[in-house]
Amino acid sequence: MEIGIDKIGFYTPNTYVDMVKLAEARNVDPAKYTIGIGQEKMAVAPVTQDAVTLAANAALQILDEEDLEKIDLVIFGTESGIDNSKAGAVYVHDLLGIQPHARAIEVKQACYGATAGIQMAKGHIALNPESRVLVLGTDISRYGIGTAGEVTQGAGAVAMVISTKPRILVLENESAYLTSEVMDFWRPIYSETAFVDGKYSNEQYIAFFLNVWEQYKAKYGATLADFEAICFHLPYTKMGMKALREILDQGSQADRERLVAHYQTSTSYNKIVGNIYTGSLYLSLLSLLELSDDLKAGDKIGLFSYGSGAVGEFFAGRLQEGFREALAIAEHKALFADRKELTVEEYEAVFSQTLPTDGSTVTLDIAADPAVICVAGMEDNKRLYINKTNE
Ligand code: COA
Repeated sequence: MEIGIDKIGFYTPNTYVDMVKLAEARNVDPAKYTIGIGQEKMAVAPVTQDAVTLAANAALQILDEEDLEKIDLVIFGTESGIDNSKAGAVYVHDLLGIQPHARAIEVKQACYGATAGIQMAKGHIALNPESRVLVLGTDISRYGIGTAGEVTQGAGAVAMVISTKPRILVLENESAYLTSEVMDFWRPIYSETAFVDGKYSNEQYIAFFLNVWEQYKAKYGATLADFEAICFHLPYTKMGMKALREILDQGSQADRERLVAHYQTSTSYNKIVGNIYTGSLYLSLLSLLELSDDLKAGDKIGLFSYGSGAVGEFFAGRLQEGFREALAIAEHKALFADRKELTVEEYEAVFSQTLPTDGSTVTLDIAADPAVICVAGMEDNKRLYINKTNE
């Protein structure tokens, strides 16, 4: 049975900071941010957007009536969730109007969450071929103003419909994965911002990649020549290249040129959004599929997922006939074109805005946020969500 990605939606808030201006404000050579790290713009989430609304906005774009009737599992992958008990998937299920006889859960393992969701979705569909599963990777990445990680912040969500006979990518069953207890990045329950041992994290990312790649090759006899492109989890766009170049000498000159060229295309969206944690690998896939003009049906795309802490996985998919027609290229172009630049001062002010934690009531200005689904306020320690199309 062929199971895979039938639809991919993406959403990012409509405000961003330019990395050259951020570098100047931090007294850093802009080339460090734009070349050394590889980021051009960083999405900034207003207080009216959180992991729930970003995910719901990403899914809203792709779901039709048939999806709403057939989706019976919603998996919400995040590491910036809004509740330690209730799954963000339950809110998304309600905001989108998915039929009630569905399971709705949240999964967590740093940036690996959406990949875990996809693998669980495949198992569910193998047992229930008529089902469709909505997998969400949604996050706001926050390290803090003036920290070394600040340049790798971002905000956004990717929503994927997983089904049989997928129109975009059939996911192959071959996969190699690894878990090992490492403290490279973590966020204790009491902290709004992440703790990271940046250099160690980079080392672990590469070590995990090499481990699962070698495992995958040994298990399935794979070589670089099998892959038209390899997409990476991208906390920042230089990171995937550091991993890719570790294995390039295993291929021919043609392999190297093809993989490097496709890698560059796969980083275009991430460069202007920043780190969206769980969704980053799938944003990179989206960038590759929407911006490449030489991909064709049957091409094999490798996917490396990494969630600090850590879990890594290497797996692959095959592009389907007519995959381009199943993408929302024009919508994503418009989403980027409509964004508004914030000054560094404006970004710092937005970053510092938080919702009350003392049970008080607050009403937010949702008219200032063009998103269809927003956080409208808070009351009695409950977030009040709104889908403007239902008003
Ligand atoms: N021009 C061009 N490149 C420059 C430069 C300049 N003027 N100044 C520095 N650079 C390069 C450095 O050589 C380095 O490149 P390299 O990594 O290829 O060696 C890169 O810019 C970063 O410089 P560095 O001094 O290492 O930056 P840093 O100490 O500020 O930390 C991170 C960078 C990425 C470690 C930090 O931002 C971080 O911790 N981010 C979060 C980590 C993360 O996301 N981990 C999760 C992995 S999943």
